[in-house]
Amino acid sequence: MARLKVGVLISGRGTNLQSLLDACAEPAFPAEIVLVISNQPGAAGLGRAERAGCATRTINHREYPDRPAFDAALDQALNEAGVDFVCLAGFMRVLSAGMVERWRDRMINIHPSLLPSFKGLHAQDQALAAGVRLAGCTVHFVRPATDSGPIIAQAAVPVSGDDDAGSLAARVLEAEHRIYPLALGLIAEGRVSVVDEKVVIAGMETAAGTLINPAEA
Ligand code: GRF
Repeated sequence: MARLKVGVLISGRGTNLQSLLDACAEPAFPAEIVLVISNQPGAAGLGRAERAGCATRTINHREYPDRPAFDAALDQALNEAGVDFVCLAGFMRVLSAGMVERWRDRMINIHPSLLPSFKGLHAQDQALAAGVRLAGCTVHFVRPATDSGPIIAQAAVPVSGDDDAGSLAARVLEAEHRIYPLALGLIAEGRVSVVDEKVVIAGMETAAGTLINPAEA
């Protein structure tokens, strides 16, 4: 079966991109990354893509007069590369509603919180300020409102008493690197659909067990 042709949009270090590149390096994985675009010149993630032999483009938002013009350049680059599906991976620009609608149900994002809690920037600071005992991450389809849209996969991790935003972010990031390839693989297998703005996964294997924090005696 043909592999799903994926474009990844990044702005920075690209560790989630790396997890997707690593998954796509497996011959049995049903997706391939055909283009990585960064809006930030010199983003570390571009080097990751190049080392994996993947095409890259830099589309610097500062060189466009407004958001729709920047988004049109992104859209054109994705189409020229034959991209079927887009993964946002630490892409720090808000996309226009028109761009989001053009890629409706063909664009996903990863966010470092258990959505719908803690949308936006500094999710771990928000989690610590709220005093939650479980934090986590979410892969979701993109909708015009930031960090909203049908949820595909989530992972939960414990918050420890001496966490700061950095230590919590590192724990969540490890989970991100597991669920982003998981979600993309399910999509590329054709098992994911959106029904009434909720995700249905054909043949979904539900995780077993309960994560309790603090641990029971
Ligand atoms: C991740 O925490 C991701 O959830 C958020 O931005 C960060 C990107 O990190 N959207 P990286 O560039 O993938 O390492």
